[in-house]
Amino acid sequence: MFLGYACRSCGAELRPDQATYRCPGCAGNLDVRPDFGKASREAISQSRDPSLWRYASLLPVPVPDDDSGPLRAVGGTPLVAAPRLARRVGLGRLWLKDEGRMPTASLKDRASAVVVQRARALGKSPIITASTGNAGVALAAMAPCAGIEPVIVVPESAPPAKLAQLAVFGARVVLVRGSYDDAFALSEAAARELGWYCRNTAQNPFTTEGKKTVSFEVAEQLGWRAPDRVFVSVGDGNILVGVHKGFRELVELGFIDRMPKLVGVQAQGSSPIARAFLAGSDRIEPCTTDTLADSIAAGNPADGARALAAVRETGGAFVIVSDEEILAAIATLGQGSQVFAEPAAAAAFAGLEKCELGPGEEVVVLITGSGLKDVRAAMRAVRSRPRSIDPTLEALRAALAQKEGTP
Ligand SMILES: Cc1ncc(COP(=O)(O)O)c(C=O)c1O
Ligand SMILES: [Zn+2]
Repeated sequence: MFLGYACRSCGAELRPDQATYRCPGCAGNLDVRPDFGKASREAISQSRDPSLWRYASLLPVPVPDDDSGPLRAVGGTPLVAAPRLARRVGLGRLWLKDEGRMPTASLKDRASAVVVQRARALGKSPIITASTGNAGVALAAMAPCAGIEPVIVVPESAPPAKLAQLAVFGARVVLVRGSYDDAFALSEAAARELGWYCRNTAQNPFTTEGKKTVSFEVAEQLGWRAPDRVFVSVGDGNILVGVHKGFRELVELGFIDRMPKLVGVQAQGSSPIARAFLAGSDRIEPCTTDTLADSIAAGNPADGARALAAVRETGGAFVIVSDEEILAAIATLGQGSQVFAEPAAAAAFAGLEKCELGPGEEVVVLITGSGLKDVRAAMRAVRSRPRSIDPTLEALRAALAQKEGTP
């Protein structure tokens, strides 16, 4: 299924049985080296499977059984044309990859699906993960499809909708009085202590393997082409690293002819990778986090070094956005494209609005999670409130005659 692992930090090449999480030599993040065998673009294009499993020939895990529920249905999200938003930002072509349309409403389903298939191959259960919310929800949905028990460690401040999804999916959930970074360290220690399999983002190399499939879809949806730029919101940096790996593999296979420039977007209150980039440094200084974009609040990013390298290699950039800009982007996306984004997802678009782009550029923005994940933030993003009236035509006429939002 895969050839082994490669460590970009120290150059180590490892067999599949020589590592599980990080590089045993230097603790760097490991790249999985899939065995592409006879993978062909034509065979993929002819597949009738709309899910990410159409890319099985590019993945290091087996395809789940046909009857395995949402695990079998991950992927295949629409690449939504956004012509009105494109005009607003002075672009010819703008696309939104709407990952809010996943089974659990975030891009994290991709990572959790692939990690669950890896756990299945290893015969492991339970799987524990730290999460700001979405990764845990995705694992809570995917693991039971494979008969695996999920254990989720989240900050107690996670938005109620994410906690509700966890509860409804029946996962064992532990709320931590602390940050995502605390939850990460705790679940890593717990996995070691209990001998459980750990899904932690980027620590487990298979999370990247799931996330790279979003690039496969974008390239195929564009007719096997890369766009000029892809905007990605960044917490740990693992989505960005996955996006990079996906496009890189397609270039190496000759399926597309060039890489897009990758632009990572961080929230002002959680921007250690962006700060290192803007300072021209390789040193990512951990910080405490303070942003309403809970999904990208990662003060000690688990994939910072690779994210920095990926952006630099493609000639891209990092952009920092404020919470106010994120809230404004939720409303702009909703009103300009009818796509409903959670704060972390809208951050990527807020980053686009702050960039100078050529009018001829073709841009893709990853909308990584649905606005239904955090309705409180959505309500803060829109100032006007509809008024309540008595159910009479006169009252309706009077209400419609007034400008919305005026008293
Ligand atoms: C909606 C959403 N956007 C972006 C991210 C950031 O991904 P990463 O931590 O891999 O950078 C996450 C991670 O939880 C997320 O849930
Ligand atoms: Zn190493």
